[in-house]
Amino acid sequence: MIAATAREVAIRPVTEADAALIVGWRGRDDVHCWLFAEERPTIEAHIQWFRSVKEREEFVIVWRGAPVGTCGLANVRVESGSAEYGIMLGEPVARGKGVALRAGRLLLARAFGPLGRSVVWAERFADNYACARHLAGLGFVTVLPAPAPRTKDGVLRKTMRACVWPRPKMHPVVED
Ligand SMILES: CC(C)(COP(=O)(O)OP(=O)(O)OC[C@H]1O[C@@H](n2cnc3c(N)ncnc32)[C@H](O)[C@@H]1OP(=O)(O)O)[C@@H](O)C(=O)NCCC(=O)NCCS
Repeated sequence: MIAATAREVAIRPVTEADAALIVGWRGRDDVHCWLFAEERPTIEAHIQWFRSVKEREEFVIVWRGAPVGTCGLANVRVESGSAEYGIMLGEPVARGKGVALRAGRLLLARAFGPLGRSVVWAERFADNYACARHLAGLGFVTVLPAPAPRTKDGVLRKTMRACVWPRPKMHPVVED
């Protein structure tokens, strides 16, 4: 368990026992519409995925002692030194309160600390403004070019990519 404060926000590793909770969250209309996955998960498919994934760390976000969502890092062991950030608050009561922000800070501290990542990136649908504000609050900046659009429910939708670094990037000034 990694805790921000004693009782407020913590993240703990996902286990198979969380399958029903996570499948329930990811299947909600107000969550599913923002995920890249086309299909709503089933418990069987989720457990199969969970057992097969590698180079990934997934955490349950715990707020005031109750599970409210998940956050995670994908591709954490590739040699590039990067990791992909993902987050979801499945319990609407936890949104708009800075819970995701604090969970995200814990996750980034892990990415840039023990995991030694030099950059963390995230992709979202362009119209996912809640996610855009959340990422900006964590210091992510939009990078171009944008990734390829993705089809969701038969609609081709624009996507955006943002990155965050452990400290401000130093750009050398090139003299003429
Ligand atoms: C993306 C998501 C996690 C963002 O959740 P969130 O609660 O808005 O995120 P944050 O914790 O960063 O909260 C920031 C908001 O809380 C408000 N807030 C209230 N109290 C706060 C506090 N003490 N500290 C910080 N922010 C606080 C901020 O003003 C901000 O509000 P605003 O977005 O209206 O400006 C959430 O919308 C979600 O789960 N969406 C569905 C899944 C999804 O889209 N995932 C991303 C896919 S790419």
